[in-house]
Amino acid sequence: MLAATAGDAASTTRRCRQSALDLTDPRPTGATIHMREPLNWNEPETAVIEISGQHLSGLSLASVLRTRRSRRTLSEAPLEDVAFVVRETLRTDFLGADHNSGRKRKAVVSAGALHPIKGVLIGREPRPLVYDDDGDRFISVEVRDRRQFDEFREACRAVVPTANGHWVALVADTRELERLYMHCDSLLWRDAGAVIQTMAFIAEAAGLAFCPLGILGHQLLRALLPSDPALVALGVVAIGRSEADQKAS
Ligand SMILES: Cc1cc2nc3c(=O)[nH]c(=O)nc-3n(C[C@H](O)[C@H](O)[C@H](O)COP(=O)(O)O)c2cc1C
Repeated sequence: MLAATAGDAASTTRRCRQSALDLTDPRPTGATIHMREPLNWNEPETAVIEISGQHLSGLSLASVLRTRRSRRTLSEAPLEDVAFVVRETLRTDFLGADHNSGRKRKAVVSAGALHPIKGVLIGREPRPLVYDDDGDRFISVEVRDRRQFDEFREACRAVVPTANGHWVALVADTRELERLYMHCDSLLWRDAGAVIQTMAFIAEAAGLAFCPLGILGHQLLRALLPSDPALVALGVVAIGRSEADQKAS
């Protein structure tokens, strides 16, 4: 009975996601977490990115809160620096055990501690880089649909033409969220806001320019993964070296 309820809720969510956002209060289904099948990335390979030398600046939280601004003119920062920001935002500090298995604790808040949001880095590197928060590593993946991939980059550039750094796309795997909550849409989008804000603060503390984009980045999902209603594109941000740093150097 419980499983049927959770399934019904999931299909309702899928229907609504294609039309309008379901803003009904979320309700736990009572289902328990399943061990999920990993996402079907194309030709995944562990990427070696040396980020151990990076660290957050000595800026106080008070200073970061007051100085952070969206910066739209930016140039390419070293991959290690951008990867550092993504990892600091999304890395898992604690993994749940037993009945909490599948739940995580991170710098960023997340409904039900499910953390469904992943970050994908796109820059001049030959392949997109996905941050794997289970293995605390980056995975380079092959593009499945080159046309969608190019369209994604064009769409980003159209929004912020002066951003010449990396794009970080936020994508969610909502399978567990849908199993555990009826009317889960608003949880997902509030999680996405929390990720964007946390990443903005970390980028600021790391001395990098950061700008969220209004587009969702649907094309990137189509470019990288087989179609699946449980996968949702949640937004894109630009990260790079700020104009002020370029003038100083
Ligand atoms: C969800 C979201 C979408 C945004 N989309 C864009 C965008 O498409 N283009 C842009 O230049 N700035 C975008 N921004 C940045 C806002 O314009 C910016 O946060 C706002 O003007 C406040 O400025 P500040 O971030 O410098 O404090 C976005 C911000 C958020 C949170």
